[in-house]
Formats: sequence, structure tokens, C-alpha cells
Amino acid sequence: MDGNGRWAKEKGEDRLFGHLHGVESVRNITEGCAELGVQYLTLYAFSTENWDRPQYEVNGLMELLVETIRKEVPTLNKNNIRLHVIGDTDMLPISAKEELLAALDETSVNTGMHLIMALSYSSRWEIIRAVQQLAADVEKGNLHSAGVDEKTFQQYLATKDYPDPELMIRTSGEYRISNFLLYQLAYAELYFTNTRWPDFRKENLYEAIIDFQNRERRFGKTSEQLKVE
Ligand code: IPE
Ligand code: MG
Repeated sequence: MDGNGRWAKEKGEDRLFGHLHGVESVRNITEGCAELGVQYLTLYAFSTENWDRPQYEVNGLMELLVETIRKEVPTLNKNNIRLHVIGDTDMLPISAKEELLAALDETSVNTGMHLIMALSYSSRWEIIRAVQQLAADVEKGNLHSAGVDEKTFQQYLATKDYPDPELMIRTSGEYRISNFLLYQLAYAELYFTNTRWPDFRKENLYEAIIDFQNRERRFGKTSEQLKVE
């Protein structure tokens, strides 16, 4: 979800105004995905690197986060959506962490779409943590280094309970991954749009999905092989 700050600046407003409007897109896109039967939606809301923004903006974002979670839980429940979080949540202010834990708990029985919020998340943080935990298990004798394969490694990732993303959408005209699910995106289709996040709505989502549907996903094989399968 990128482009909140520029969207606001272009309107002569404060960056936080953009974040506030970004929440409207989160609602709209979450609803749109649930309607389409998407099973897993991951939103990159705040990166590890975002902590280095001006304190004023970080505080504003944290307040918005607490407020949004509190307000949205009834809607999530109504739509049978289960909330999850990936990221270094120990970095979050205590109020945000408590609100988040309550929301995770209150939506935990929902069986519909999984909404995964990447908060204080970065892929390198996740991978380093995985390696540390894996190494600790080897040291303890619970794991043999020679037996470590993709399946083993995935168990140490924050996303261990979720499938790899099929489609990654980045808004606002930036062509970067910015430390997002680097391992998991190995075979994802990437979609970039100039639309700023606060302007991104269901129609834009449909365009991205239609684009995705027209791609040939070969997973390293040849086009001819796929036709036989
Ligand atoms: C995305 O919008 C929201 C967050 C990263 C929290 P930005 O704040 O990155 O907006 P731009 O990129 O400055 O326009
Ligand atoms: Mg940005």
C-alpha cells in the first residue's frame, strides 16, 4: 500500500491526511477480496524501516492503527474474516500491541478470509529470525542440518501457516519489493500501478486480477509442457 504521503501532498495536505484516506482503501479492498473469495490477503501496512520516519508521522500512524483495529473488529466478525499479524510486534507501542492482540483473539474463530497485516515487518528481519531459531534447534539437537529443506525452513517463517502469495500488487508507481516477503514471492506475479493507495478501489483490484488471469504461470517449465498437463 504505497503513495499515501504523495496523495496528500498533491492535495496540499499533511501526510497523515493521506494515511487517513488510505484506511478507506483498506476497507474497500478487504471487502472486495472477501467478495471474490480470496482466501488470503496480506497488507503491508508498516515496515521495519518505517520506524525511521519523523516521530510525528510514526505516532500518527500508530494512533490510526489502534483506532482502526478497534473500529473494524465488528465488521471483520460480521464478514467472518480472521485477522493475523506478521512482523516484529514487540516494537509496537504497548497500546497498539494490546489492541492488536485483542483483535487477533476476537476474530480467531472466523473461518472466512485470512487478513494478514504486515506490521513492523521486513523480510530480512523475518529471514534472520528464522535462521537464528533454526540454528538454535540444531544446537539443541532437535534438527539435523543436512535434513533442512524448503519445508523445514518455511516452518520458521512468520508466514508458516499461509500459502505463498500468487499476486503482489504495489501501488503509486514504484517498482520495488521493499523488503516484502522476499522468500515467499519466488513465483508470485507482480503487478504495478500508478494509482496512489488512497485512490485504489475494487475496480482497480479487478483490473489487477484480470491482468493476473491473463498471465501464463510456468513455474520454470515450458509453455508446451503446461499444455500437456
Ligand atoms: C504508504 O504510503 C503507507 C505507509 C508506508 C505507512 P507512504 O507513506 O509510503 O506514501 P509516499 O510513498 O510517501 O507517497
Ligand atoms: Mg512510500
